[in-house]
Amino acid sequence: MPIRLPDSLTSLRAYVPGKPVEEVQREFGLPDVVKLASNENPLGPSPMAAQVIAEWARFAHLYPDAGCLDLKSALSEHLQVPSDQIAIGNGSDELIHLLSVLLLRPGDSIVMADPGFSRYESEAIVAGAETRKVRLDPEARHDLEAMSKAIDATTRIIWIANPNNPSGTIVRETALEKFLDEVPHDIAIVLDEAYFEFATDSEYPSSTRYLKDRSNIIGLRTFSKTYGLAGLRVGYALAPPEIVQALDKIRPPFSVNSLAQRAAIAAVGDTAHLRKTIDTNAAGILQLTQFLTAKNCNVAESFANFVWCDIGCLADPICQALLRRGVIVRPGGIFGCPNHLRVSIGTRDEMRRFEDAFAEVYGAVTAV
Ligand SMILES: Cc1ncc(COP(=O)(O)O)c(C=O)c1O
Repeated sequence: MPIRLPDSLTSLRAYVPGKPVEEVQREFGLPDVVKLASNENPLGPSPMAAQVIAEWARFAHLYPDAGCLDLKSALSEHLQVPSDQIAIGNGSDELIHLLSVLLLRPGDSIVMADPGFSRYESEAIVAGAETRKVRLDPEARHDLEAMSKAIDATTRIIWIANPNNPSGTIVRETALEKFLDEVPHDIAIVLDEAYFEFATDSEYPSSTRYLKDRSNIIGLRTFSKTYGLAGLRVGYALAPPEIVQALDKIRPPFSVNSLAQRAAIAAVGDTAHLRKTIDTNAAGILQLTQFLTAKNCNVAESFANFVWCDIGCLADPICQALLRRGVIVRPGGIFGCPNHLRVSIGTRDEMRRFEDAFAEVYGAVTAV
């Protein structure tokens, strides 16, 4: 007799990661492949973090600090948030998982944007909860009014990725605060700020602002994006102390490895690398937005390190043709938007590779 799996899992799809460079090199026999599909940092990790990783390699035989105390205190000082309001995880992915385990039970529901970050729904399915997806507005922003209407007595978590993945758009302060006032205060509102440091708009609200006065707000951040440590897996939650304690109770004690903890501390202190990352990205966003707009693509205003655009025709064949030219981007079909592309910002050279390949491939399609 086969082992019985829960029925709820039949609707669960495995996460589709960006295609690895090595796979495209092998498949198409290309020596030089550019990956603009996973919103990674094209400048690499902070050099200070890389040095610390090398230094701490000789302690790899020891278990890491289960409480991540040094990293919590570095973040506490950096963000001016008490340590007891910071939970560390194996990437913010682990914190999305743990929050879902903590707060969701069969019969509960979550509310999220559509298209939005797929992990919220996957974790809800595993917990037996329902997902209510609310279409983005015509500017590809969260439709907070419609999200408000999707809430009922079963709703336990509202996920707001700010900036949103895949659209890169933000929810601004006034709209967010109106929403926070309206929503019942026993529903957790998670502001997923994976791209926080890129969002330099003056009306962009930081979750830290709400930690003191609103007990249902949880912020999520990561070292995978601006800090360039995606391969080490470290992220954090900013939350009321009782939520942090609960997360720390259910987290596997050593899920954040020692090199990740040390590298993250060093990265927090490397303001030069952070500045360079943000500046390179801002120039890339501007250039790519202008390039795609000039091609008559409909580009969403991005506050992250990627651009989301409607190219007016099926994106899958375009992505395949780009792959054959050694450029990996994300087709929108996996987000339910078959005419969309998501392109991460790379170095200037990488962006030129994309632009040349896209002009060739898209020119051929639109000329027909
Ligand atoms: C909105 C959002 N949240 C969370 C994550 C997960 O990040 P991490 O690498 O910290 O697990 C991502 C990664 O792309 C993301 O886009």
